[in-house]
Amino acid sequence: MPEIAFLNGEFMPIEEAKVPVDDRGYQFGDGVYEVIESYAGQLWALERHLNRLRRSLSETGISGITVEEVREWILETHRKSGISRALVYVQITRGVAPRKHAWMTTPLRPTLLITVRRFVPVPEELRESGVRAITVPEIRWARRDIKSINLLPNVLAAQRAWERGAFEAIFVDGGYVTEGAATNVFAVRDGKLLTPAEGPHILPGITRGLVIEIAREEGIGVEEGSLALEVVMKADEVFLTGTGIEVLGVTSIDGWTVRDGKVGPVTRRLFEAFMERVEKGFDAS
Ligand code: PDD
Repeated sequence: MPEIAFLNGEFMPIEEAKVPVDDRGYQFGDGVYEVIESYAGQLWALERHLNRLRRSLSETGISGITVEEVREWILETHRKSGISRALVYVQITRGVAPRKHAWMTTPLRPTLLITVRRFVPVPEELRESGVRAITVPEIRWARRDIKSINLLPNVLAAQRAWERGAFEAIFVDGGYVTEGAATNVFAVRDGKLLTPAEGPHILPGITRGLVIEIAREEGIGVEEGSLALEVVMKADEVFLTGTGIEVLGVTSIDGWTVRDGKVGPVTRRLFEAFMERVEKGFDAS
């Protein structure tokens, strides 16, 4: 069961996949991506990820590739790897051209890269204990709804979290939480979920959307709007959502203990309901 790459029409071992130095992804971060998880040999929420990819392509004007062909290559690469619990990375850059900021009208051939790797789950102890987070100033661009490969601020924030022994860095803009470096953020107050509303300031997380749907089905109220850091600090529970972590409790922020420092009942219930959906093969391809 090899970890494999698919690059522009060819399958190969990941370490053999190479792109030219003039690829605009390498030069400018001019590209978009998706990360998809598979459970029991099935890609989870593939269509939702593809819909977001379609939107990212259209918002960035990357053309010359269709989401339908990308879907086929994702399925084929995943199948070929034989890895039943995988993390699939899909990246499309605008293509290769001598370095010049504007791509002008020259039709470029986009670079499509897919890698399939064995998935490493969140350690059980962390899921039980909850994780630590830190806050960092929001320094990103104004179109965070596009899943762009331009991730320097996210990378710097995540590194800062790692250096401080935290699992995630949460961006805060003028006293309001936006999202984590690679996750969405929820607070629970009086049994109700509070989370930043969708818009250009956050990525519309696939896991976020599913958790909101599950919460509504479970009769848990959801309020999407501005989320003040002060509210998060005083919340009954805080959790993160994202591909690879599902629903993960946060028990400390900047050294401040969230409530009693334990993963709360709503977080646990949502994680269990989420995994139940996965096990039932809901939304699987
Ligand atoms: N990150 N916000 C940001 C900035 C993200 O990068 C991600 C995902 C999320 C959660 O989105 P989703 O539920 O669709 O995974 C929110 C992926 C996993 C990554 O960059 O590796």
